[in-house]
Amino acid sequence: MKAVVRQVYGPPEVLKLEDVAAPTPADDEILIRVRAASINLGDWELLTGQPRFISVLAHLFTRKQRYDFAPTSVTADKVGFSPPKAKILGTDVAGCVEAVGGNVTQFKTGDEVFGMSEGFGAFAEYVCVAETAPMVKKPAKMSFAQAAALPQASHIALQAIRDKGQVQSGQTVLINGAGGGAGTLAVQLAKLYGAEVTGVDGPTKLDMLRSIGADHVIDYTQEDFNRNGKQYDVILDMAAYRSVFKSRRSLTSSGIYLMGGGSGKATWQSAVLGPVISKFGAGRVLFLLAESRREDLTHMEALFEAGKIVPIIDRSYPLCDAGEALRRVGEKQGIGKVIVVP
Ligand SMILES: NC(=O)c1ccc[n+]([C@@H]2O[C@H](COP(=O)([O-])OP(=O)(O)OC[C@H]3O[C@@H](n4cnc5c(N)ncnc54)[C@H](OP(=O)(O)O)[C@@H]3O)[C@@H](O)[C@H]2O)c1
Repeated sequence: MKAVVRQVYGPPEVLKLEDVAAPTPADDEILIRVRAASINLGDWELLTGQPRFISVLAHLFTRKQRYDFAPTSVTADKVGFSPPKAKILGTDVAGCVEAVGGNVTQFKTGDEVFGMSEGFGAFAEYVCVAETAPMVKKPAKMSFAQAAALPQASHIALQAIRDKGQVQSGQTVLINGAGGGAGTLAVQLAKLYGAEVTGVDGPTKLDMLRSIGADHVIDYTQEDFNRNGKQYDVILDMAAYRSVFKSRRSLTSSGIYLMGGGSGKATWQSAVLGPVISKFGAGRVLFLLAESRREDLTHMEALFEAGKIVPIIDRSYPLCDAGEALRRVGEKQGIGKVIVVP
């Protein structure tokens, strides 16, 4: 099969389109013929190894992939890390089940599915995923590109707005980074739950944010939402590049700030200090670590079928141009999800 392979962390130029033997499903796995994969900012971070803590986490938690790659002479990168374990990147995937392992009962050959490949590998013609992975059957009226756009972003948005934020009708919700993969779904969900929604993002995304229901928009290049004197019941921050303590001041007394993505410093502040500072004064600060849950995908699929949410798609690239697709995400040029089609 064709696959986009890298041996080292680096810019898109380290990616090579190679012929690799397609994986064979183990007894508890399904083999998917990939019809579309989508790119998350996390894929760019894993490609480049930046911010550095991402590559440290990847080294700790990624399993070695089971492909028969040609031997590499690379033993360590410039700062001494061993080469990345995930040579073929890509998590969010939609496609057709091509084969199933002997113990698989929930999927059969020919099923159209979408979800997350927890061992990466989606930037290829085929990928094996565990039967237990967050993977569900794709409804006929959802395109493969739309299906590939949903998985990771859905988990973050749903768990932020419905579960941790417990957004209620009449509440005020601010989403920072609202124009991104998770943000666009979070805006739609918060509207669905009856909130008054403010979306913060760059100038090119504001019309799109209005079109998906945002009541108010803020251009982050012109206005700092921490300084406009307004307070919100729920803040979902997908672009936390400032102190989370500053953002806490924009909460109502019973409000909740959810840090979903951003700098290493903001991650540390919300994950380690958040639970402590939340005990004192007004407004709680939480680090949002979304879990992969099949039932969340089923829920989002039902909302899609009912016409209540729609994934925003930027453009599609052929597999051979996966590097350009990653660059578009990494250099923040797109509006909506960028798709790779084998
Ligand atoms: N919490 C979790 O469980 C979890 C799981 C996986 C991934 N993540 C993290 O989630 C983040 C990505 O989320 P995503 O896929 O939704 O990203 P995304 O699609 O890249 O969206 C991020 C949005 O934030 C905007 N932005 C950038 N700087 C901003 C600023 N200073 N103020 C306001 N908006 C700003 C970007 O716009 P521009 O185009 O102007 O830059 C973009 O529209 C990553 O940091 C990733 O590591 C979190």
